[in-house]
Amino acid sequence: MPYRLPSEVRVVEVGLRDGLQNEAAFVHTDDKLRLLDALLAAGLRDIEFTSFVHPRWVPALADADRLAARVQGYDPTLRLSALTPNMRGLERAIATGVREVAVFMSASETHNLRNINKGRDETWPVFEPIFARAAEAGLKVRAYLSTAWGCPYEGDVAPCEVLRMSQRLLEMGAYEISLGDTIGVGDPLQTRRLLEALLSALPADKLAMHMHDTRGAALANCMVGLEMGITTFDTSLAGLGGCPYAPGASGNLATEDLVYALERMGVRTGVDLDALLEAGCLAQRLLGRPLAGRVLATKDCKE
Ligand code: HMG
Ligand code: MG
Repeated sequence: MPYRLPSEVRVVEVGLRDGLQNEAAFVHTDDKLRLLDALLAAGLRDIEFTSFVHPRWVPALADADRLAARVQGYDPTLRLSALTPNMRGLERAIATGVREVAVFMSASETHNLRNINKGRDETWPVFEPIFARAAEAGLKVRAYLSTAWGCPYEGDVAPCEVLRMSQRLLEMGAYEISLGDTIGVGDPLQTRRLLEALLSALPADKLAMHMHDTRGAALANCMVGLEMGITTFDTSLAGLGGCPYAPGASGNLATEDLVYALERMGVRTGVDLDALLEAGCLAQRLLGRPLAGRVLATKDCKE
């Protein structure tokens, strides 16, 4: 039976944002830039590098404005984006020259409330002016839909609800929906069913997968997505990360683990695995502990 895979995929690196937002220790701005440079040296071109939230909510990213200002001299063809929860966050992003932002909400009501302090129906009116202002300023907007595979408070989430909300976010102006398994509960069969529901109404190139690897199924779930036509995957250097407002959430699928599997299968990522592992070693040194990435664990990180 023929086995069809895409020839290349887009890897969106979220470790500097999703990874570091969950770290108790504050990584100095200069060290975040070292990590960013190491990721770029490995060939990554899509990098979500910070989040313009209130420092009280996410202290680890309190330097978002300083970091964004220092990234402004970087190659303008790179896609260096930032998370923005509200208009205040968007204005901060625009003021520091960020060209792409991401908004986020949850498919389940309770996670949305815990994460952004609003119900889902209260969130749409927050997003409308954000999309309008971003369009006026020439920014691209990505939308995350969290808890698409399950909610830490409510359990199962209906695929038809994920579809309905994805459609609405696309209609509002998102160029892509990144579907989040925020707490890493999904399994491959569930992934197939969820994607079947979504792909019955949406083109695959409007969807990305953002899988936290809490239970070790993230790579298997991404492989199901790959076979079904998904070609954008969010991953995190060394498996850093988690959502501070989702109990038990651990890091994203490690970028090296996805790159290793894809490149071996002949699917191009544009990423140099050896250089990426060097970036992973740097992350371990900066955080002072071994990180979760499986391929990284096979490397002897020298000082
Ligand atoms: P709120 O407290 O309801 O906000 O928070 P507010 O509008 O009432 O404002 C309260 C105060 O915060 C005011 O200041 C505002 O000016 C200030 P005060 O008068 O008290 O001095 N403020 C801000 N300051 C700086 N930047 C801002 C900002 N906004 C308000 N942007 C809010 C609402 C959305 C801001 C809050 O709930 C929040 O920041 N939540 C973010 C939580 C978060 O970052 N979660 C993690 C990211 S999402 C994630 O990880 C999931 C994802 O990876 C996908 C997946 O895995 O599924 C994306
Ligand atoms: Mg996440």
